[in-house]
Amino acid sequence: MKRTKIVKLLKTGRAVDRVLIKGWVRTRRDSKGFSFIEVNDGSCLKNMQVIADQHLSNSKDIKKLSTGSAVAITGTMVESRGGGQKWEIQADTIKIISLAPDNYPLQKKRHTDEFLRTIAHLRPRTNKYGAAFRIRSELAFAVHKFFRDRGFKYIHSPIITGSDCEGAGELFRVTTFDLLNVPVKEGGADFTHDFFGTEANLTVSGQLAAEMFALSLGDVYTFGPTFRAENSNTRRHAAEFWMVEPEMAFCDLQGNMDLGEEMIKYLSTYIMQESAEDLELFARFVDKQLMSTLDNIASSEFIRLPYVEAVDILNKSKRTFEYDIAFGKELQSEHERYLTERHFKKPVIIYDYPREIKPFYMRLNDDNTTVAAMDVLVPSIGEIIGGSQREERLDVLEARMDETGLPKDDYWWYLDARRYGTVEHSGFGLGFERLLMLVTGITNIRDVIPFPRTPKSIDF
Ligand code: 4AD
Ligand code: MG
Repeated sequence: MKRTKIVKLLKTGRAVDRVLIKGWVRTRRDSKGFSFIEVNDGSCLKNMQVIADQHLSNSKDIKKLSTGSAVAITGTMVESRGGGQKWEIQADTIKIISLAPDNYPLQKKRHTDEFLRTIAHLRPRTNKYGAAFRIRSELAFAVHKFFRDRGFKYIHSPIITGSDCEGAGELFRVTTFDLLNVPVKEGGADFTHDFFGTEANLTVSGQLAAEMFALSLGDVYTFGPTFRAENSNTRRHAAEFWMVEPEMAFCDLQGNMDLGEEMIKYLSTYIMQESAEDLELFARFVDKQLMSTLDNIASSEFIRLPYVEAVDILNKSKRTFEYDIAFGKELQSEHERYLTERHFKKPVIIYDYPREIKPFYMRLNDDNTTVAAMDVLVPSIGEIIGGSQREERLDVLEARMDETGLPKDDYWWYLDARRYGTVEHSGFGLGFERLLMLVTGITNIRDVIPFPRTPKSIDF
């Protein structure tokens, strides 16, 4: 007999004669003549209640079933006579696949997120993390659907690269050198002897590759892991995270902001519709405001505000911030949160940032002091999207690279795109984990990645 997933059984909405389910025991309760076993198979939040009659041939062993044990059950799904669940299975057979010992770490009680991080290999077996990672899966699918429905092509940008897209130097080096015996030449390591014959690193962004393909296929996107050796131990930074990066030819900053706003609204709406049951757990136990936050995001028009005006609002706010804010300074998380949570109470897109705090590829505005950058900020997270219109003028781009000290020779191919058929184009990067934090209300990035990588932490 073929196994049926619990999620599918619960959707049938009628009694089903002969079924086979396989899963893990959440709890067992014995009463006169019966045992009640709650079984979860990970396909949905709900458990299936299984009734084990004392006349089953192995009923003695069934009474030993402990939390975490694995079972295969055949029987009939009928309407439940007890409260608490609509359906239950009257078992014909209960096969014990494996018994979990009493020291199974996930006994039925609430555990802290901190504790569960130390057993990240088991935490997806809890209700909360099972739900979080089902939502992660749904949302990844929704990203692809969003783009495919709009005619975007999916590009696999390289993971190992020779360039630093953001020019911020937060690179993880990739090498096959024996670190105790590195070939040297004057001034340092001799990378001509390394695997690629030159310095290599893990990508910090797929943007440069996406630009080449946007200037060939029109509208494209990448969606993959990116790596940053930022030594910041915050609740919204990870060393390995996933980024969604659309890139559009014949598109200016306005069109770029439109897409960012449309995408966040689409994904919030999608997950409210498709993952309602899992989301409800977060609305009940993690963030009581979650549904109203998501409704607000899905239905309100995002504020669009030039950077200078944002600085002005912050300075007039009469709030004392830990970091001063003035033209030319980075917005810190506290500033972003003030704007989205206190001042506007909804998502805010800030654009036209000072050139000196943004990377070389952003298009210089006519004022010569700002670039056509845009960041989307959302309540409780802050920056969720960073993007820009790209500098498509060869001479301006070269001047910007000189200014920021980037070796033009290494980027010859990137400059080629400006030599041959250059057009205005734009794109952005959306942090996938930050999106997950937004839709679940989870406040630490470590809790939306299966096995998080952060400074001094690479277990599992
Ligand atoms: O603003 P960022 O650095 O932009 C870029 O990388 C551009 N090249 C993207 C592009 O235009 N194609 O990063 C984009 C987003 C941020 O807004 C944030 O959501 C997320 O990526 N992000 C991180 N998420 C988790 N951990 C980190 N260390 C992150 N750094 C950036
Ligand atoms: Mg950014």
